Parts: sequence; C-alpha cells; structure tokens
Amino acid sequence: MLGAFPAERDGREGTGVRIAKETEEDWWEVEALFDLAFAPGREALSSYRLRDGVPPVADLCLTARDDMGILAGAIRYWPVRVGTAPVLLLGPIAVHPTRQGEGVGALLIENSLARAQGWDRAMLVGDAPYYGRFGFDRLVGVTMPPPTNPARVLGRALKPGAWDGVSGDVLRWHDGG
Ligand SMILES: CC(C)(COP(=O)(O)OP(=O)(O)OC[C@H]1O[C@@H](n2cnc3c(N)ncnc32)[C@H](O)[C@@H]1OP(=O)(O)O)[C@@H](O)C(=O)NCCC(=O)NCCS
Repeated sequence: MLGAFPAERDGREGTGVRIAKETEEDWWEVEALFDLAFAPGREALSSYRLRDGVPPVADLCLTARDDMGILAGAIRYWPVRVGTAPVLLLGPIAVHPTRQGEGVGALLIENSLARAQGWDRAMLVGDAPYYGRFGFDRLVGVTMPPPTNPARVLGRALKPGAWDGVSGDVLRWHDGG
C-alpha cells in the first residue's frame, strides 16, 4: 500500500523525513522523544487516564525519520468514546526540538488522518491556533476528564456531520458503549 501515501514515499518536500508505522522496536525511542518534548509529568495529564490499559490504534501510530534513521517526530492515537460514539484521540504528537517548524508535525497529522479509514471523527486536547489549520475546531459539549481547559478540546469530523449530536463525557474505550 506504499503508493497510497505519496508522503510515505518521498516525505513532504523540504522535510526530508520518511513516515512509517511505529514498530515495537520504536516504542522506547518514541517515549524518549515525548519525554524530551513535553514538560515532566506528562503521564499525569488527564488524557493519559483515557489511555491506561488500552492499546493504541497501531495502524495510525507513525514515526518520521530522516535519511540517517534519526527520529524527527512521532504521533500516536488511542480509541476513546464520547457516550457510545467511537472517537480517535490524536496524541501524543511531538517533533524533536531541532526539527520543529519544518512541517514534520503537519506531515504526521495529515498522513495519519489520511489512514484513518473506518473512523468517523477525531479529537485532541491542544492549541487551537495550531490544530485549526488541520480542520480541528472547539468541541462544545464534549467533556474531557478534569482538569482540562475546555477551550483546548478540539474535534474534526472525518466524515461529514460526524460530530453532529455527539456530546458527553470522553470515556476510556472499554468504559463506553
Ligand atoms: C506542536 C508540534 C508537534 C508541531 O510540530 P512542528 O513540526 O514543529 O510543526 P509544523 O512545522 O507542522 O508547523 C509549524 C507552525 O506551527 C506553529 N505552531 C507550532 N506549535 C504551535 C502551537 N502550540 N500553537 C500555535 N502554533 C504553533 C509554528 O509557529 C509554525 O507556524 P508557521 O507555519 O506560521 O511558521 C511541535 O512543535 C512539538 O513537538 N511541540 C512540543 C510538544 C507538543 O506541544 N505537542 C503537542 C501537544 S498539544
């Protein structure tokens, strides 16, 4: 299926990275990148409670490596539910501090969402000014476990109207419908 994702073949012009599915061997290197990119204690964030004991959506967890194989960025997704509706929770995503601002984050987000066949809607907790450019918008009536700033709870329909009528608490995959 390489041909289905032009970015996987060439990387986005200028980024010089290759996108690949995260493997078991990548796990700790990706964890180290997240530790570097985020403030200490990232796993205490409420979004991590939604991930506890739930496997990530492996097909959408991607790495971006340069031509020397050095990890430039990574993205993971977990399944969650809002009420009974299945939702993709985007994140964590991080780009190595030496590679930020080159489009690697955009490449990871766009490439992973393009693979999200079978999912109707995605959400995340993050900065609207960044994620707005990928079609993410404030989700009204969707509540993350506290403490989460509601202005940072953002969603994007992957199919038209997929967020219509979907509201309530965000739940762990196994706790919902
Ligand atoms: C956020 C992050 C993944 C973006 O990846 P990136 O490869 O640097 O981003 P891109 O190159 O695709 O985009 C860069 C653009 O986004 C903007 N941007 C980056 N982070 C932003 C933020 N938090 N809020 C608003 N704009 C942001 C940059 O200013 C730049 O703007 P420009 O295109 O107008 O110059 C990366 O900066 C990172 O890993 N940050 C630390 C970890 C983190 O905060 N993760 C996200 C948690 S919500």
